[in-house]
Amino acid sequence: MEDHYGHRISYLRVSITDRCNERCTYCMPRELQEWLPREDILTYEETLRLIGIAAGLGVTKIRVTGGEPLVRRNIVDFVREIPKISEISSLGISTNATLLAHETGKQTMATALRDAGVNSINISLDTLDRGIYSQITGRDLHLQVLAGIEAARAAEFDQIKLNTVLMRGRNEDQLIPLVEFAGSRNLVLRFIEMMPVSTTEVLSEENFLPVAEAKRAIEKEFGDLIPEPTFRTNGPATYYRIPGRDQRIGFIGAMTNLHFCESCNKLRLTCDGKLRPCLGSYLEFDIMKPLRAGASDEELRQFFIGVVERKPEQHDFRTNYRPNRKMVAIGG
Ligand SMILES: C[S@@+](CC[C@H](N)C(=O)[O-])C[C@H]1O[C@@H](n2cnc3c(N)ncnc32)[C@H](O)[C@@H]1O
Ligand code: SF4
Repeated sequence: MEDHYGHRISYLRVSITDRCNERCTYCMPRELQEWLPREDILTYEETLRLIGIAAGLGVTKIRVTGGEPLVRRNIVDFVREIPKISEISSLGISTNATLLAHETGKQTMATALRDAGVNSINISLDTLDRGIYSQITGRDLHLQVLAGIEAARAAEFDQIKLNTVLMRGRNEDQLIPLVEFAGSRNLVLRFIEMMPVSTTEVLSEENFLPVAEAKRAIEKEFGDLIPEPTFRTNGPATYYRIPGRDQRIGFIGAMTNLHFCESCNKLRLTCDGKLRPCLGSYLEFDIMKPLRAGASDEELRQFFIGVVERKPEQHDFRTNYRPNRKMVAIGG
């Protein structure tokens, strides 16, 4: 599938729940959370059917996300089915890691996911300070997260990435400790610019920290970062190597990088069955409706193709974007 701007779609991010056991300020509104009713959520069978259709149209990479995907029951049984779709060559999951060290049967959740075929895992970690972690996420789960990261390492995923959302006044003193933390564990660390995707007013001039500034602070400590244009994962990060080390860090400058959208290869499926051609655009298309009305595979294929045709050239975050759906319900 290719859109009018040459974006070739090979990557589908699949949100399986809007629920979460944390309340990150930049992702969820503070006010009382109302979850979607069960019947409005795609069943695993429905989700797998849509993944199969997407795979037939050129999607090779799936990332399961949320909300917090690990709070949905039987997730391991669900993800085990995804690699059985022959076109899918990469299966990732994004998690806050709070539940990765939990035991399921005789193994940790992390090992169960690995055994089920997940090869890459993205873990959110904004700070190494337990108190600040609680402030950012609204939950005192930092110790569980650290245990979860160790469980992921023990499970030997092909790749483990740590994602840090940059927040001025909150975690700018954490950049160097996080680089050291990731380096000593052989993990790829990425710094992400905050995007206006929550309904709370978290993105203001005062708390926005651009990636360029984070990069300068890191270079002050370690020396000039060495660009690694050939180091690519599936996402939009720009990677660098730390001089004198075999350590890579990435920057995701969704707000300040004007070329951010040029190589976009993504489509999103929300847990309530909406296809979103772009995270930073209002556009979303309800595929649950035709799916539940008995659409054929060919009709669903045409639906996907139609959505890709509506993919915008770039996101609206810098212009007139106002959040209509909180991040936790889109699937980051
Ligand atoms: C929505 S979360 C879902 C997966 C999982 N619960 C987690 O926290 O990793 C996916 C990613 O989106 C990021 N995210 C959420 N809100 C954001 C925002 N306003 N700006 C930038 N990144 C955001 C999170 O930090 C996380 O790395
Ligand atoms: S970023 Fe992840 S952990 Fe934090 S509230 Fe959103 S979904 Fe939950």
